[in-house]
Amino acid sequence: MSQFRRGEELTLTLDSFAFEGKSIARHDGLVVFIQGGVPGDDVRVKLTKIKKQFLEAEVVEVLKKSPLRVEPRCRYFGICGGCKWQHVDYQAQLEFKRQHVVDAFERIGGFKDIAVNPAIGSENIYFYRNKMEFSFGEKWLPKDEFETRILHSETVPAFALGMHPAGLYQKVLDLEECYLQSEESVRIVNAVRRFCIERQLSIYSTFTHTGYLRNLVIRQSASTNELMVNIVTSDDNPVLISSLCSLLLEEIPSITTIINNITQRKNLVAIGDCEKVYHGHGYITEMIGKRKYRVSANSFFQTNTKQAGRLYDVAKRMAGLKSEDVVFDLYSGTGTIALHIADDVKEVVGVENVETAVDDAKRNAVANGVKNCTFVLGDLKDRLTKDAAWLTNHSLPDVMIIDPPRAGMHEKVVSEVMAMKPERIVYVSCNPTTQARDIKLMANAYRITEVQPVDMFPHTYHIENVVRLERL
Ligand SMILES: C[S@@+](CC[C@H](N)C(=O)[O-])C[C@H]1O[C@@H](n2cnc3c(N)ncnc32)[C@H](O)[C@@H]1O
Repeated sequence: MSQFRRGEELTLTLDSFAFEGKSIARHDGLVVFIQGGVPGDDVRVKLTKIKKQFLEAEVVEVLKKSPLRVEPRCRYFGICGGCKWQHVDYQAQLEFKRQHVVDAFERIGGFKDIAVNPAIGSENIYFYRNKMEFSFGEKWLPKDEFETRILHSETVPAFALGMHPAGLYQKVLDLEECYLQSEESVRIVNAVRRFCIERQLSIYSTFTHTGYLRNLVIRQSASTNELMVNIVTSDDNPVLISSLCSLLLEEIPSITTIINNITQRKNLVAIGDCEKVYHGHGYITEMIGKRKYRVSANSFFQTNTKQAGRLYDVAKRMAGLKSEDVVFDLYSGTGTIALHIADDVKEVVGVENVETAVDDAKRNAVANGVKNCTFVLGDLKDRLTKDAAWLTNHSLPDVMIIDPPRAGMHEKVVSEVMAMKPERIVYVSCNPTTQARDIKLMANAYRITEVQPVDMFPHTYHIENVVRLERL
């Protein structure tokens, strides 16, 4: 039997942040994971989970504030799931993120004493996102406001447009300010909400699969300032969307394109099966370095444009490219890394499993006048084999740049990469834990020569990490 009880209160000093942004403290030889708080705080916490190896708790009161605390800028901080670290000094955020990389490489990869460079911070720590996805849904209210309304028999307002509160995907926080994208983006959200309430439009429910409004997606180019509004609905209603367009263009004339994506899918993905363009060309143009990219409503594009340029510059420098090099860009998406390095090498071959991304990559190469990039469609697990037919047209790579999704690389892909024996590998990852796991599998043939974290998402615990590997 544990000596602790759920609901019991303890006084602790917070030591550090754990994976996924919770705080850590130690008590009676046990690790305590705490929701909320900042390392350096003295806090009173309430235990929420008792396990043999660890405890979980939430902060009840901050008794002494950590010197790393700053005043959060947003009034929704602490409720909204968007920016969990807005109360932490930005330099401290960068150091915690660097430490997260060190810990992942030590604990998961088994790499002791590797040097990890200081994380490269984002030039903009507010208004850095080029894409925001807002939800329509049932309005979230603080508990006391909700209870007071019920007590006074007032109806609880049902309609909201904004972000989900942290961990509560059934409810929506009615956002009237947000520092992630731009001031125009907030004005669009407020105008769309007003229009939908006036017209008494219904919200799509994932329980009953009825209702009309699903998502509002806003994309804004950081380089050309083009501004896209994409309303995702479950049905086609051209008269209604046309009047919404007139209202939006009158109130926010800087909008360059308006689209309606229509889908009856039963999941919550904000992608339409049919797309109707109501205003402008239906896409925005974004630039990274000297390359231009056409970004349509449903294509993948790095969300922090300026920092994406820095990330790609880091990858390019670490790759140590020579004009005669053949480079494979694995998990190539819309070809942004391939096109970023194309002028410095003989040839780049990208491999990617989403057909529209491969189509975009080919179109981006043509639009930028790049002739030495080829893009291959397919799952790397099946396509990356030494005897693959597509390889007959290319030499084996001198360098590989690998940028997988959060889950990392399939073991079979790791083996094939090693079998192809590139001299250098640059592994870019948005998840240092799976990255450390994959690199451990390569440790008998490759050694780590540089580790560079790059912060793409200020005020969150996420970190992008670039590792350079050299063949032994
Ligand atoms: C993190 S993104 C990187 C995209 C690109 N390098 C960039 O910077 O925009 C990962 C990409 O891997 C693709 N992908 C995921 N699993 C894959 C697989 N098994 N085979 C090939 N591509 C895959 C995804 O579609 C996505 O475009």
